[in-house]
Amino acid sequence: MEVIVLPDADRIATLVADAYARRVHANPATVLGLATGSSPLKIYRELIRRCSDGLSFGSASAFLLDEYIGIPRSHEQSYYSVIRSEFTDQIDISADRVFSPNGEADDIPAESERYDRAIADAGGVDIQLLGIGTDGHVGFNEPGSSLASRTRIKTLTEQTRDDNARFFSSINDVPRHVLTQGLGTILEARKVILVAMGAGKAEAVAAAVEGPLSAFCPASVLQLHPNAAVIVDEAAGSALEMVDYYKNSYFHKPDWQKL
Ligand code: F6R
Repeated sequence: MEVIVLPDADRIATLVADAYARRVHANPATVLGLATGSSPLKIYRELIRRCSDGLSFGSASAFLLDEYIGIPRSHEQSYYSVIRSEFTDQIDISADRVFSPNGEADDIPAESERYDRAIADAGGVDIQLLGIGTDGHVGFNEPGSSLASRTRIKTLTEQTRDDNARFFSSINDVPRHVLTQGLGTILEARKVILVAMGAGKAEAVAAAVEGPLSAFCPASVLQLHPNAAVIVDEAAGSALEMVDYYKNSYFHKPDWQKL
């Protein structure tokens, strides 16, 4: 894993937007893997700004990581609604090429298989953005998730429901179940970029990067990915033992090797 420690979320947004822009320039039909939640918001804003300066997602497509079960797609907190309002409705990507698992499906196992197949049929995700939960989840693969899992239903931990209660009027409104890409699905993306900001993520980041490969910290599965970057601000990187090494190695890299 490449670990990059930057001073703040603005620097992270610029670096990650650069990586996205480079890929879309090189291949306009890039398949984007998108995360929801707070962590990617500045990145999306930076990409929206670049679109008004000429960057185009007109030939790209996008797959979301996950979706709640128990609220309709039209709910303002469904991940499909959130990604549209925060990002894809503000760029020139075609709305019919923004895909998410359907949490309203009658047959959840069939929908799960369909979603994995849809990603594969699109040629696989070229660049996957991830946040990390305070309990170490990526997507909604909570602790205990199989490291080889495929898209499927998961139950949220109380910690995750509590963390996400800020988006709802009360914790009682936070759904208990989700459909999420599995860890095995996520590992198939060609490039994975995990971003984390704030001290609340420090323990999870340290466990993912420096802890053992373990289903107990699902994000540690990225240790198996040949092309994964973990980009954190100083606070989220504060529990990393080798933080000085990561800082030095990144800043001494030639440009062509960066992200
Ligand atoms: C979102 C997702 C989650 C979040 C994680 C961090 O699609 O899959 O794994 O990335 O819960 O959320 P924030 O960024 O809100 O702290």
